[in-house]
Amino acid sequence: MIRHIRQIGTRRLAAMVSAAVVSLVGSTAMAPGSAQALDNGVARTPPMGWNTWNTFGCNINESLIRQMADALVNSGMAASGYKYVVVDDCWFDPKRDAAGNLRGDPSRFPSGMKALGDYLHGRGLKFGIYEVPADKTCAQYFRSYPGATGSRGHEAQDARQFAAWGVDYLKYDWCSPNGTINDQVTTFAKMRDALAATGRPILFSINPNSIHAKTGPQRNWGDVANIWRTTEDITNRWDTGSNGTSAMGVQNIIDVNVPLASYARPGSFNDPDMLEVGRSGMTDTEQRSHFAMWAMMAAPLIAGNDVRNASTATLDILKNSGLTAVDQDPLGLQATQVSFDGTRRVLAKRLAGGDVAVALLNQGSRTTTITTTTRAIGKAGTSFTLGNLWTGASSTTTGTVSAGVPAHGTAVFRISGGSTSTPAHTAPLSARSAGR
Ligand code: GLA
Repeated sequence: MIRHIRQIGTRRLAAMVSAAVVSLVGSTAMAPGSAQALDNGVARTPPMGWNTWNTFGCNINESLIRQMADALVNSGMAASGYKYVVVDDCWFDPKRDAAGNLRGDPSRFPSGMKALGDYLHGRGLKFGIYEVPADKTCAQYFRSYPGATGSRGHEAQDARQFAAWGVDYLKYDWCSPNGTINDQVTTFAKMRDALAATGRPILFSINPNSIHAKTGPQRNWGDVANIWRTTEDITNRWDTGSNGTSAMGVQNIIDVNVPLASYARPGSFNDPDMLEVGRSGMTDTEQRSHFAMWAMMAAPLIAGNDVRNASTATLDILKNSGLTAVDQDPLGLQATQVSFDGTRRVLAKRLAGGDVAVALLNQGSRTTTITTTTRAIGKAGTSFTLGNLWTGASSTTTGTVSAGVPAHGTAVFRISGGSTSTPAHTAPLSARSAGR
C-alpha cells in the first residue's frame, strides 16, 4: 500500500485526498442553518436501553429497576446493545434537602440513587435519570405526584449531583406550556453546559414538546442535545389519527420523523420516542414494522416492555441483530425517503462499507406489492445480494427490489454488491405533505 502511494506521486495523491474530502463533506453536508452535533463524545450511534415510563409510569422503585437490569442481562438484551437503564419521572423525594439537593424518594429508593447507579454499573449497564428545566416534572404538573423539584435555578447543582451518582444519561423534559422556541434553546443549553462542566460524559436527551407547542421537529437540536424528541408521546397503537397534539401511534410518528433525516449524525439523532415492542396494542406485524422503521431512522432504541416476562416473539424483534446493526451503523445516517405514494413508503439507509438497507413499508390496510430499484437507492452495478433482515434468506437481483408486504408490515433488506452513491430521494419536506 505504502509503495503504491509512493508510485502515485505526492501531487496526484494530494488531489485525490482533496477530492475524497470534498465528496465526504458533500455527502454529509448539513442543511443550511443546521446545527453542529454536540461534541461531548457520547451517542456516536443512537443509544439503546430500557426506560421505566411506558409500562410502569410512577410505580417504580429500586427493586423493580434492579430486577429489570438483571432481566436485560439474562435475556441477552444487554449483549444486543440495550445498555442504558433510564429511571423516568417520579424517582425523587418531592422535597429537596436543606442544602437544595435532589434525593431519591426514601421509601421507594431507600438505598439511594448512587447505590442504584453502582448496581447498574456492576451489571455492565449505564444509568439514566429524568428531570425537567422548569419547576415541575410532568407528573408534578398533572398533580399525580407532589412537589416542584425541577432544575430551574439548580442546574449546576443538579448536574453535579447526577455526576456524583454516576449518571450516564439525562432525560430532560420541557413539561411546561411557557417559553418560545428560543427560550427553550437557551434553557436546555444551560443544562447542556452544566453537564459538560461536571467533566463526566453524560448523554443529553431532551423533549421540547411536552405540554408545549411541538417545537421538536422545528429545528435541528443537534447543537443543544444528543437526542431530541420530535413528536408528542408514543402510545401502543399503530394509528391514533393524532396530528401531534395527543398520544401518537407508530405510523403518525413515522410521518413526522421521516422528513427530518438530514439532522441525524454521530452525536445527535432525532428521537421519535421509546419502543412499544412487547406491550399489548399492536399486532406482531405492526411491532416488527415499528422496530424496523426505528432502526432505519437511526432512532434511539429504548425498550419500554416488562423485560422480566418478555415473550420469545418480543425478544426476537428486539434482539434482531441485522436490524440493530442497521440502527447502530457507524455512519449515523437516518434513512432517506426514496418514494411514498400515501400507502407504499420506501426508505434507504446508506451503511458503512457500502451496503444499503432498504425498507418497504405498507401503510395501507391490505397486502400490496412494493417495488424499488437498486438505482433509486444509490447503487450502481449489475448484480446485487439481498439479505432479508426478518427471515435471514438471501437472494440476488440485477436491479429490482420488490416484496409482497402485508398491511402495516415492513420488508427490510440489506443490499450489497455494486458501488454506492448518495441515494436519490425526495426532498426531505415533500414527504410531509405526501403523508397527509
Ligand atoms: C412526558 C414525556 C414522557 C415521560 C413523561 C413522564 O410526557 O414525554 O416520555 O417522560 O413525561 O411524566
